[in-house]
Amino acid sequence: MDMTNRNPKPQERIAPSMAFILIFGALVLAGGFLVGIVFTPLVLPEQASLQAQNTDSLFRILLILGGVVFFLVQGLLLVSVIRWRARPGDLTDGPPVHGNMTLEIVWTVIPAVVVIVLSVLAFVVWNTNRTPQPNENFVNGQPIDINVTGARFAWTFEYVTNVEKPLAEGETLAEGQAAPQVVFRTSELHTFLGQNVKLDMVANDVIHSFWVPAMRVKQDLLPGRVTEIRFTPIRVEGETYPARYRIVCAELCGGGHGQMYGWLVVHETEQAYLESFYDQQVFAALNPPADPVARGQIVLASGAYPCSNCHVLNSLDWGGITGPSLNGIGGRAGRRVGGLTGAEYLVQSLHLPNEYIVPGYSAGVMPYFGLTREAPAGQNPYNFMPEEDVIAIVAYLCTQTDSGSLDESTCGLVLDDPEAATEALKAISETYYALYGISQ
Ligand code: CUA
Repeated sequence: MDMTNRNPKPQERIAPSMAFILIFGALVLAGGFLVGIVFTPLVLPEQASLQAQNTDSLFRILLILGGVVFFLVQGLLLVSVIRWRARPGDLTDGPPVHGNMTLEIVWTVIPAVVVIVLSVLAFVVWNTNRTPQPNENFVNGQPIDINVTGARFAWTFEYVTNVEKPLAEGETLAEGQAAPQVVFRTSELHTFLGQNVKLDMVANDVIHSFWVPAMRVKQDLLPGRVTEIRFTPIRVEGETYPARYRIVCAELCGGGHGQMYGWLVVHETEQAYLESFYDQQVFAALNPPADPVARGQIVLASGAYPCSNCHVLNSLDWGGITGPSLNGIGGRAGRRVGGLTGAEYLVQSLHLPNEYIVPGYSAGVMPYFGLTREAPAGQNPYNFMPEEDVIAIVAYLCTQTDSGSLDESTCGLVLDDPEAATEALKAISETYYALYGISQ
């Protein structure tokens, strides 16, 4: 005997009442707005730039629309499941429905309009945030250039200042030649409230992406092509200045990608920026210490080169893991490659990092630091490491022995005699000038 009722009376299709539609619609809209307005500040960090306000307004609109769609779809689903659920014993098919032209048009036209409106809004925000601002990078009423290099796995910021470099004795400028300007490099980006910052960025090796979540700006860096990014820091209530915001790499660039972060430091006033950063850096660039070891410590600690994110070096608080440890390197360097002193090995490692790879590490990760007499401003710093930086870095690394005693150094240098150490390192670097065909 057939136990089931195969042909029960089809359920009546009852059109929802106007009251239901109104209440349902109001709930969907309220839910969407609630999500957009409550969640936007919850999921985003502080608004620390003018651009952040534009970006967040767009984000809020997206969240409201997303919320409305979410509650509409889930709400209709819930109502349908409850209202038109199969009654016990009902095994019939649903009523045969063959399309509904009005419905098709409605659910095509509404999303199309929404997508077009969003595209226009997104373009307007993108365009506004990229528009050149007046007085970009003004310091002391003069423009400066800020160049950014991304390399696996660190950020380097180069400031081409508006301070003229004093000419060396006997040096003259050719007619029409501009006086050279002081250039310094740091691992942290410094600015101050209200400064219209513009960065010119280039990648050293692979694509990186410069992202400061608090500023809501993000831009890819490409090898061989300069890309720009702009932002204007604004005051954040309750913030203590100088404020520090994290700079993140947002493009997977290799094993140390997660460590490729840096800091943006926002000073409260231009005065504070000058006193605690800019003037100090200019002074240090104009008055380098004669001792190469002291200079090396300054160069390495400044982050002018991206060593810290790959190597461990306790004396400078470096914690990178993608490269071999530099703790005690001065005591080991002379035993790495037969026929090379420690100093020669270290100079070679800067210029030709793939000649000798420490067991357990990969070739092709360390940037190639080419030798040059003078680093041209605005060029990728890793392709132009001036000789004085090579000498300083190697001299400092040579002093890094396990016990701290210079007697243990395997570099073959007289490290407590600055002049002798400089001369010896100069002689070594000359071999590389010859190799690169760089004349005096
Ligand atoms: Cu650079 Cu990820």
